[in-house]
Amino acid sequence: MEYFVKSGNPEKQRVACVIVGIYDRRNASAPAETIDKAGDGVIGGIMRRGDMDGKLGQTVILHQVTGVFCDRVLLVGLGRERDFDEAAFRKVNTAAARALRGTGAIDAVSYLTHLSVRGHDYAWNVMQATLAVENEFYRFDAMRGEKAREELPQIKLERLTFDVPRRSDLPSAEKGLKQAQAVARGVALTKTLGNLPGNICTPTYLADQARQLANVYPLKTKILEESDMEKLGMGALLSVSRGSRQPAKLICMEYLKGAKDEKPIVLVGKGLTFDAGGISIKPAAKMDEMKFDMCGGATVFGVMAAIAEMQLPLNVVGIVVSSENLPDGAASKPGDIVTSMAGITIEVLNTDAEGRLILCDALTYAERTYEPSVCIDMATLTGACVVALGAHASGLFSNQSGLAKQLLAAGEQAGDRAWELPLWPEYDGQIKSEFADIANIATVGAGEAGAIIGATFLHRFTKKMKWAHLDIAGTAWTGKKATGRPVPLLVQYLANLAARHED
Ligand code: BES
Ligand code: MN
Ligand code: ZN
Repeated sequence: MEYFVKSGNPEKQRVACVIVGIYDRRNASAPAETIDKAGDGVIGGIMRRGDMDGKLGQTVILHQVTGVFCDRVLLVGLGRERDFDEAAFRKVNTAAARALRGTGAIDAVSYLTHLSVRGHDYAWNVMQATLAVENEFYRFDAMRGEKAREELPQIKLERLTFDVPRRSDLPSAEKGLKQAQAVARGVALTKTLGNLPGNICTPTYLADQARQLANVYPLKTKILEESDMEKLGMGALLSVSRGSRQPAKLICMEYLKGAKDEKPIVLVGKGLTFDAGGISIKPAAKMDEMKFDMCGGATVFGVMAAIAEMQLPLNVVGIVVSSENLPDGAASKPGDIVTSMAGITIEVLNTDAEGRLILCDALTYAERTYEPSVCIDMATLTGACVVALGAHASGLFSNQSGLAKQLLAAGEQAGDRAWELPLWPEYDGQIKSEFADIANIATVGAGEAGAIIGATFLHRFTKKMKWAHLDIAGTAWTGKKATGRPVPLLVQYLANLAARHED
């Protein structure tokens, strides 16, 4: 699909569909008023007859409206004007996309981008509208049979234009569109990798994806094999992989478009392509969802694609640490003690707390290899984070408050929120082990503050870097579908950094 921005009169658009919004109580938005006037009160009539009352997300399609050049007018309910906020803005754009999907329209002009949302400009409007539409149009059909795929309903829409009130708003709108298209690319890639089943999307598959990404974008890909991990002393990572027939991979993607002497920002993603729990096996219910345990890694792919698409002038390294976690004769047993690359010994009291085991070695590798200016990891790390924050926010932890603030702000800006949880030293006492340097689960206050305990474990390995951890267990997928989060948050954070560099 192609997107455009422009500024023009709604009644004069020669397209298949014009989209305008109606607040409740017969309070139309300005473009809707214009259509209403041109069409001899057509919208007022619809509302009087009770076919549209402006309820948030409601849609009605009008055909052959007199006095306008378009074939159809799509009315979208906006709800109460004083309640119109960010979430409402996304909702009406999603509703419009859903309504359009059911029509034969091949092009459309949306005036929903005229609507003002407190604290935001037209760049934001166009960005959020584009992302809402792309989100609504995304489908994952790669795993359907050929026959079924042929019969899938096709989206007719080919061109969508977002209108802004003044020509002087166009540069800002254009900027929003560019960023949104890049983010949408990344989000779609992250979703697709996430949605793929564990038998297809293995560590080897992800390594191949990284090589392919390097064919499309200016990236350098480096893959570490288990033999390399052995040499580096990555005993924690290897202990997880040992129970699997799929070899682990440590995938590094280097995007170096910043200043030569500048230390990179390093992103580290948990790419656990299937988490059965190992010997501490998970219950059967919903175990299928553990194919999504690589969504942190998928996020790294999405962010790398987006920033390369945007050509951000930054040095960014994406690392995906990838393995399976299965029960097997060779798998770790509860009570086993392993030595991490950092030399810290770990008592594996629960083999299902494997994310922290593969991440700790990846973090040490990142620290020693790249000396990051900032290191951010993202992982579907704990069920406890889902209990704490649900699907609305990713859990954020950082050893540097400035970094935490920047990430929180980027999340707000992008509509992909995070919420900070503490890393107080008191929690650190909870992972002490009777036999090793630390345990991989809490031995004191077991079951309490699980998301913080996971982060506290990682914190042991990140003392020398400016570091943040995003627990995305609640946000990376909802129901049985990957969301592409937190790609928007991270791309916004990086775009903000790049913009700060420029001035
Ligand atoms: N991948 C899971 C975390 C998870 C569980 C994410 C459910 C989303 C939904 C992780 O590897 C895990 O199993 N964590 C354990 C940790 C526990 C053993 C301390 C958990 O959360 O139960
Ligand atoms: Mn697990
Ligand atoms: Zn896991």
